[in-house]
Amino acid sequence: MATSKEMKRFYNAQITGVGMYLPEKVLDNHYFESILDTNDEWIVTRTGIKERRKEEKGPTSYMAIKAAEDLLKSKNMSAEEIDVIIVATVTPDMFFPATACIVQNKLGAKNAWGFDLSAACSGYLFALKTGASLIESGAYKKVLIIGADKMSTIVDYTDRNTCLLFGDAASALLLEPTEDLNYGFKDALLHCDGSGADYLYMLGGGSLNPPTHETVDQNMHTLFQDGKTVFKEAVKGMADISVDIMKKNDLKSDDIAYLVPHQANLRIIDATANIMGIPKEKAMVNIHKYGNTTAATIPLCLTEYYRDGKLKKGDNLILAAFGAGYTWGSIYLTWSLD
Ligand code: UT7
Repeated sequence: MATSKEMKRFYNAQITGVGMYLPEKVLDNHYFESILDTNDEWIVTRTGIKERRKEEKGPTSYMAIKAAEDLLKSKNMSAEEIDVIIVATVTPDMFFPATACIVQNKLGAKNAWGFDLSAACSGYLFALKTGASLIESGAYKKVLIIGADKMSTIVDYTDRNTCLLFGDAASALLLEPTEDLNYGFKDALLHCDGSGADYLYMLGGGSLNPPTHETVDQNMHTLFQDGKTVFKEAVKGMADISVDIMKKNDLKSDDIAYLVPHQANLRIIDATANIMGIPKEKAMVNIHKYGNTTAATIPLCLTEYYRDGKLKKGDNLILAAFGAGYTWGSIYLTWSLD
């Protein structure tokens, strides 16, 4: 495979805008103590999560539109300027039309085409790579990548193994071209391995098990996770791919300002940072506030850290994720927003 330096490119895709939306309703660990046999101490020590949000006003598109509006407002930009909208999600409003179409219409992005992308917790990285390629080809100038998931609609609130891990949120980034190849997207390593499908899935609702009274009775419309198995694969997957992209691009740990990890479990994040040889403080973390928001975790981290003034132009970032599929990957980019 060619290194990023060997690949000829006229443009890099760079992130030129950020946006986010968080539902108002907070479910803290004490709420789960009141409905399940669990406790705050177990949840915090095993996962790092203290709170997560629950959307009560609308579907996934509602959150996606709010995040996009936040981005457009902060850039003082019209929705009509957007060329492409990609929505990474496993909780689309419906199978079809795509949530991206609902967002396009309600946002007033009348010059945009778009589509949904389903790759679970790696969805945002897959969408970013897709969007960056559309920019780097020279074909498009403004690509909006939204990560939005309303996980509260697909978790079983009687299952203590899963329900307290997930939360609802949306976040968006805008990609635009830059001719300054020192900034923006430098490299990506992405993978999937469908043999992992047995460990994290939702069985019902699709063409395999179309919805019937039976599928509802058998609780097939909520997610299942074999946590222990996924945990081991996630640590290995996220750490190995992050080390691989560092090696491929001659990056030492000191060259990296932040690891931007998918927020599934604080222990997975810490282990990944450790194996990469970077201090824990260099791993972006907001899992304590929002839990695992699936496709929204990575843009939410970037948006919050940028708005808090912790992310500076020129910072080298390694984004990394692992999730259902299995899917996993890493992206190396240099932050370009002042
Ligand atoms: O984002 C997509 C990818 N997903 C991930 O990366 C998630 C990966 N997996 C994990 O994060 C962890 O496996 C979990 C947080 C899901 C579970 O943590 P764990 O340390 O792997 O716990 P476990 O499933 O091995 O369970 C340990 C014990 C069990 O009791 P026994 O058998 O030791 O008596 C569970 O029954 O903890 C028990 N347990 C709980 N106790 C209190 C499981 N869930 C709970 C709970 N409260 N909520």
